[in-house]
Amino acid sequence: IAATLSVTSELNAVPAAASEEPQVTVLYGSQTGNSRHLAEQLAERCNSLAVQTRVLDMADYKNRDLKKESHLILVTSTYGEGEPPENAISLYNFLYSKKAPSLKSLNFAVLGLGDSSYEFFCKTALDFHAQLEQLGAQSLLPCVELDVDYETAAEEWEERVSQLLQERCVDVVKGNHPPAVVTPTPLTTYNKKNPYSAELYTHQRITGRRSSKDIRHVELALGDSGLTYQPGDSLGVYFKNDQELVEELLELTAVKPDAEVTLDGKTLSIVDAIKEHKEITQAYPGFVEFYARQGGIEQLNSLLEDKKQLHSYLQSRQIIDIVREHPFPLPAQALVDGLRKLQPRLYSIASSQKEVEDEVHLTVAVVRYEAFGVSHTGGASGFLADRITAGDQVRIYVEENKNFRLPEEDDSDVIMIGPGTGIAPFRAFLQEREQRKAKGKNWLFFGNPHFTEDFLYQVEWQGYLKNGLLTRIDLAFSRDQEDKLYVQHRLREQGKEVYAWLQRGAYLYICGDGQRMAKDVEAELISIVQQYGNKTDTEASDYLQQLKQQKRYQKDVY
Ligand code: 2AM
Repeated sequence: IAATLSVTSELNAVPAAASEEPQVTVLYGSQTGNSRHLAEQLAERCNSLAVQTRVLDMADYKNRDLKKESHLILVTSTYGEGEPPENAISLYNFLYSKKAPSLKSLNFAVLGLGDSSYEFFCKTALDFHAQLEQLGAQSLLPCVELDVDYETAAEEWEERVSQLLQERCVDVVKGNHPPAVVTPTPLTTYNKKNPYSAELYTHQRITGRRSSKDIRHVELALGDSGLTYQPGDSLGVYFKNDQELVEELLELTAVKPDAEVTLDGKTLSIVDAIKEHKEITQAYPGFVEFYARQGGIEQLNSLLEDKKQLHSYLQSRQIIDIVREHPFPLPAQALVDGLRKLQPRLYSIASSQKEVEDEVHLTVAVVRYEAFGVSHTGGASGFLADRITAGDQVRIYVEENKNFRLPEEDDSDVIMIGPGTGIAPFRAFLQEREQRKAKGKNWLFFGNPHFTEDFLYQVEWQGYLKNGLLTRIDLAFSRDQEDKLYVQHRLREQGKEVYAWLQRGAYLYICGDGQRMAKDVEAELISIVQQYGNKTDTEASDYLQQLKQQKRYQKDVY
């Protein structure tokens, strides 16, 4: 990560490797870093083809510059119910606003990243594409939508786009020579494609015995991997599926467990192929399509015609549920080919390397639920909690998140809102601030169902309150009283003080559930700014928007 970053920041700082303005701007909008990786790869390729290309985070782009661009490439994921990722919002809103300029001389291409298990698959990318056309820009090729298993399609797109750009931008007669790209020595060789096998130190439960939640504190050893991370970063975790689940799947499809299959050119047993390389917990439309076609299953075929129905069907099911409902024999190879590649899961890191050195900590909520009379367990969280013990190995990599960072100034105050496992990065923040002896004040909002069962890391917060690192902590135990009490209610009670902190320059962070919590908290923040800042609703929203632009309001929500 560090390696690619320094290449691009150099390119940003010195776009004129051949003393020329950049001919192509690549912008990425991303929560997880996948879009950034692809944007950087494309830019690197273009530069090596002598196309002067710069790459920027959408959040760092000056929207006014759009008028000056001749070639613009957007790479973006989609978030929640079809909304743009946090760092794409400003550009997205600008393009849809009255201020959006005519873009008749702009040529563009859009690449969307997403997960087809979600209803609003790649919506942000499609919106960008449609709106740029609406503003008069010429598309170089149709919007490409990539699913989780995107590597091959992404490479094809990259090749196609870089060639198109070379044809358009490089003056062959004049001989625009490729700039010499200095490839810095990578700081670490471990990444998503080449994960590090870390030893598990501990995965202890930190919720009480009577808690409805099984939340684990996970510690992994980085050993001599050389892996480094910053508070705010996430950890990518690969996992193995539950052997029993694999065996049941094989039984239901009448595949012999000793069958051998081919995967990426290698021969291996079907049990290993599925256990280690295939997605069998999270259900997704591609599997329904495959399964309906193979088995000629009417019910599934009709589901495929109604997107809404399909997605509500998928929400309550794992792959095994679909197969249990419609068992039929399949050839071993067909089954393997029909399942998509297993994807690592991202967890917000819960430690600071300044404190834990060669360890990395996570706070993991184990997904467990009953459905159709059977108990279900999450793929990665079940692996971390149930299928490994101390001393076993977990394949990991660090996923940088530049959009969730402590203030650089140690004197700045921070307000952190993190109910449930949303607490994870704030544990990292506080460890970091303590080690850095940061003078700024720290205010934490935390919530969970019950004080006695679910007060995650209680002892640590008490220690921090005592030694003065934590200025305040406000708690919302939702089910300890008749009416639900949430972090946003605590925020409202403290509205005046929250606003005063913001006015004095505090940074504001939210981590945790993005479906409802983060939205409700944001609504409450707007109402606080309105009330204590004497502002209209629009002015209050603008206030938060400005905080975002100043990087003083950051979210890590899922
Ligand atoms: P509940 O499950 O008791 O409703 C962490 O998951 C905590 O966040 C829990 O206490 C949970 O409460 C709470 N929570 C659930 N929905 C929320 C929302 N919309 N806003 C804030 N907190 C919420």
